[in-house]
Amino acid sequence: MKKTIAVLEGDGIGPEIVGEGIKVLKAVEHQYGHTFHLNYAPFGAQAYFTHGSPFPKQTQLICDHADAIIKGPVGLAVEKMNTIPQQFRPEIGAILPLRKRYDTFANFRPVRLPKSLAAFSPLRENVIGNGVDILMVRELVGGIYFGEKIEGPAVNMQYAQDNCVYTAKEVHRVAVVAFEEARKRNSQITNVHKANVLATSRFWNAIVEEVAQDFPDVPYRSVLVDNAAFQLVKNPTQFNGVMLLENMQGDVLTDQAGGILGSLGLMPSACLGPDKGYVEAAHGSAPDIAGQNIANPYAMIGSVAFLLDKCFGLTQEAHAVWNALFTIFERGYLTLELATNASDSEKVLSTTAFGDMVVDILVGK
Ligand code: IPM
Ligand code: MN
Repeated sequence: MKKTIAVLEGDGIGPEIVGEGIKVLKAVEHQYGHTFHLNYAPFGAQAYFTHGSPFPKQTQLICDHADAIIKGPVGLAVEKMNTIPQQFRPEIGAILPLRKRYDTFANFRPVRLPKSLAAFSPLRENVIGNGVDILMVRELVGGIYFGEKIEGPAVNMQYAQDNCVYTAKEVHRVAVVAFEEARKRNSQITNVHKANVLATSRFWNAIVEEVAQDFPDVPYRSVLVDNAAFQLVKNPTQFNGVMLLENMQGDVLTDQAGGILGSLGLMPSACLGPDKGYVEAAHGSAPDIAGQNIANPYAMIGSVAFLLDKCFGLTQEAHAVWNALFTIFERGYLTLELATNASDSEKVLSTTAFGDMVVDILVGK
């Protein structure tokens, strides 16, 4: 298979962890006889300083011509960020426009903690039970993130407003993707909402329930978002399967799910649109530890596995990468942020050593 991939390294630890993702991608390319053409392009806060925009025109064109996009986390230290005008900050000026440009409506965030890795979690082992295996599917291009905003001097700072809008089409398409995933996994689906208060949630539920009729084989239930937050800590395994969430609620609960894993470094992510997708680690750019070779590249490498699977349909290759990632932990190795006691220290891997080990396992060493 021949594919072109845009590579946006981003800020902070971005270039380091993206580097490990690319290392693994090249190993897959070599081992399975594919050709991945990589086009690097500036994106994020640093890109604003060097190119005047966090998502420069040339980057947009490179992404337009790519089959898929690998994106590192973005954002610099607070003092540096404060010097960037609001509309050029990477969230508003780069990430949201990237999502809109490619209409990446379905965001996959897997929350996987096998029983063998229960010790990573701040939750007790008996709470993790036989393991957590949830795929959170978050709607990514609608809702309050993209509704009309009123803010600033024009209203004399007397009020501000964020509109939450969902169209039937927007809800329907992400619900179908989530139900299809649940069917593939032979699992239940849990729909998350706030229908006791929000009109958009009541509308969301009505559409999701319609879609549920087309998937009679998929056990369906729904839960209020506040209760879901509580239950995710108290008894996360009850959600094993797929969880479907709208944009804002999904933003909050996917980070909370990272808490179950013990580290956001364990949460990869794929953002899929009708024509192409991009993958990213769900965590931030951690400028405080940038350049030290200690960041956990798991989420980025897992995101590359997602790219192989969801963007290119290379399921076997993706499976091999997931398997290598879990094998590292099963052999007792970990990354610095996961180490909790002194005896862990000799098994702590640097960023580059982690990527090397994934490659070694892939090539059967
Ligand atoms: C995420 C991030 C983004 C979001 C920010 C950086 C715009 O928190 O991907 O979860 O809120 O969606
Ligand atoms: Mn978030």
